Amino acid sequence: MNNSNKIIIAIDGYSSTGKSTLAKHLAKELGYVYVDTGAMYRAVAYYAMKQGLIDENHFDKEGLISDLNKIDLNLQFNAKLGYAEIFLNGENVESFIRSIEVSNMVSKVASISEIREKLVEQQQKMSLDKGIVMDGRDIGTVVFPEAELKLFMTASAENRAQRRFKEMTDNGVQIQYETVLENVTSRDHLDTTRDDSPLVKADDAIEIDNSDMNVDQTFEVAMRYVKERLNS
Ligand code: DC
Repeated sequence: MNNSNKIIIAIDGYSSTGKSTLAKHLAKELGYVYVDTGAMYRAVAYYAMKQGLIDENHFDKEGLISDLNKIDLNLQFNAKLGYAEIFLNGENVESFIRSIEVSNMVSKVASISEIREKLVEQQQKMSLDKGIVMDGRDIGTVVFPEAELKLFMTASAENRAQRRFKEMTDNGVQIQYETVLENVTSRDHLDTTRDDSPLVKADDAIEIDNSDMNVDQTFEVAMRYVKERLNS
């Protein structure tokens, strides 16, 4: 496949629908670059937490906005892992940003327009060579409205919480299923109701409800759409 055949694949959808697992798998299969934009918002939330700008009871939005020029995000491909890891001001923060603490703060941080503007600009610059699979909430609507293929992932909240719960407990995290479900539903609410770039399905996106599909089945369905698009 030559460069001119390469496309942009935008994957949006609700949290814990397996977007990043699918995006990684597609990128590997196609030899494309995978970009996890959620990791970028999570890294900014992690920065805000470390600086004491946000906790359960307060959020110093202005403080975080004025610190934006001190936040340098960098994605570096790790060949062993097969995907890019995120660095915040030179520090690899991959292992910190998936915690429930960061998950509980990230949607608030992602609702700030100044932050979205900065991250969207950085994301748009990554598409110069096409051949990219990017996942997030606003990729098909805001970041790449011209993407050749847009997938929109959904699944029931209970199903998604169950998956996230299993993933966390498999990784040795002690947590109640109800806590995970509460995080999933509250993030759904914040992500879909925020003023700036709320999570919505783009008109030309293809919806995939994978409540009753496993990882391989989801990949097969998505790959069918990719092939259709590449052959059209
Ligand atoms: O995909 P994720 O769960 O890692 O994303 C973390 C949070 O970041 C999610 O609650 C919404 C926000 N986000 C966003 O607003 N826009 C994106 N493009 C990606 C993530």
